[in-house]
Amino acid sequence: MNKKYRKTIIAGNWKMNLLPSEVKPFTEELRSSMPRVKTCETVLCVPFTHISALRRALKDNRIAVGAQDVSTYEKGAYTGEIAGDMLNDLGVRYCIVGHSERREYHGEDNFTVGRKALAALENGIHPIICVGETLEQRERGITMEHISCQLISALSFIPDDKVRQCVIAYEPIWAIGTGKTATPEEAQEVCSFIRRIMRERYGARLARSVSILYGGSMKSSNAKELLSMPDIDGGLIGGASLKPNEFIQIIDAVAQVTGEER
Ligand code: 13P
Repeated sequence: MNKKYRKTIIAGNWKMNLLPSEVKPFTEELRSSMPRVKTCETVLCVPFTHISALRRALKDNRIAVGAQDVSTYEKGAYTGEIAGDMLNDLGVRYCIVGHSERREYHGEDNFTVGRKALAALENGIHPIICVGETLEQRERGITMEHISCQLISALSFIPDDKVRQCVIAYEPIWAIGTGKTATPEEAQEVCSFIRRIMRERYGARLARSVSILYGGSMKSSNAKELLSMPDIDGGLIGGASLKPNEFIQIIDAVAQVTGEER
């Protein structure tokens, strides 16, 4: 399928790493040698406490600001929660929802994930909806069943006219932080399955315009191979997004794949 209808997105997920005071030196290093790749949207999903510092440090729109979670609630007595309009007010453009770490450590189920995706969309923020199977599920041969259940449950909360603003991230849990990457073929198989679900539910036009990312030990040494796959439109990158040089090389891999001058 032709990739020209959709954006390539390289999104860093800092998780709970680095300090707010480290944002400025990090972005200075990143911006000084980050290639300008027209076809690539670069995003940094940082902890809530880092968002303002990141906005200040970025100065222009070359890198979009992302968050890692959003409340399902709009406002009120929800101690510790962060609402979608608060994120929007800070200039957040993307928000990860349903990361496997939130599902595992914070008990988030598919319905919570769907409501969070909707909360982001209602505030003009692109949700990056994460799906992915455990090693046990892969070995039992139920990967596709599991992915389809996660995806369809989350999408059922989203009005059809907002689905095109969603980004889907396939993150096999066994590949996250383990150094064990899915092979490009394994990742492609699931990403193509995700696009098929989108096509069946929303039609070919929408399916070809939705960006599907791969996440799980993506780094400079494997990014090019993964990004060359026809249904992989970018990466959601944990560990390697904490090192400016690694992250830059992943963006560079996009330029190599698209044949763009940098
Ligand atoms: P790693 O790149 O560290 O494996 O993390 C992937 C991830 O969970 C991104 O959301």
